[in-house]
Amino acid sequence: MKTNEVLEIIKLRRSVRSYTSQEVAEEDLLTILDAATYAPSGMNDQTWHFTAMQDAAKLEELNKRIRGAFAKSDEKHLQERGHNENYCCYHHAPVLVIVSNKNERLWAGQDCTAALQNIFLAATSLGIASCWINQLGSTCDDPEVRAFLTSLGVPSDHKVFGCAALGYADGSPLKVKVRKEDTISFG
Ligand SMILES: Cc1cc2nc3c(=O)[nH]c(=O)nc-3n(C[C@H](O)[C@H](O)[C@H](O)COP(=O)(O)O)c2cc1C
Repeated sequence: MKTNEVLEIIKLRRSVRSYTSQEVAEEDLLTILDAATYAPSGMNDQTWHFTAMQDAAKLEELNKRIRGAFAKSDEKHLQERGHNENYCCYHHAPVLVIVSNKNERLWAGQDCTAALQNIFLAATSLGIASCWINQLGSTCDDPEVRAFLTSLGVPSDHKVFGCAALGYADGSPLKVKVRKEDTISFG
């Protein structure tokens, strides 16, 4: 098979869940966010929005409100997360990028997913670790969470389709990346 710098970055990307406290430089964050906006979007609508959070106190508050939403859930495992003071959905990363879009658009989620992958690959290319963070998908319409998202600048008619934690890996070992067989065929 062929390889090149882009293909190597694709294979190098990993979900990192343990970060140092080192901040991501403004220029690097802007570069990553700019890459996100170059993703494909249905009808080229680009109705997405990227809200970059870097303030540790705000990240903690968001996590607290997500836990509050989980605590109200009927599902036992979510209730447990909600009541667990140590639960941190963003893995204590120094940056969280919230990726949102107008909910009524049929392909809103696909657009956000394409943008998120650009974020992960751009971050990897800059030596910055990342992880998809999904908890706002199910909690963004909880009143306490929504009020906080609005205060952060997430458009009020947007649903959150995913988030990207960004930062520097603390070196904790990652699982070996094994690819499942038989997922490719030629028709
Ligand atoms: C739709 C989606 C949701 C995910 N949600 C989370 C999440 O909330 N928290 C997390 O730590 N990882 C999350 N992940 C990361 C996956 O667990 C990860 O991609 C998978 O285990 C493969 O590992 P790799 O990314 O290192 O290849 C999510 C990934 C996807 C695609």
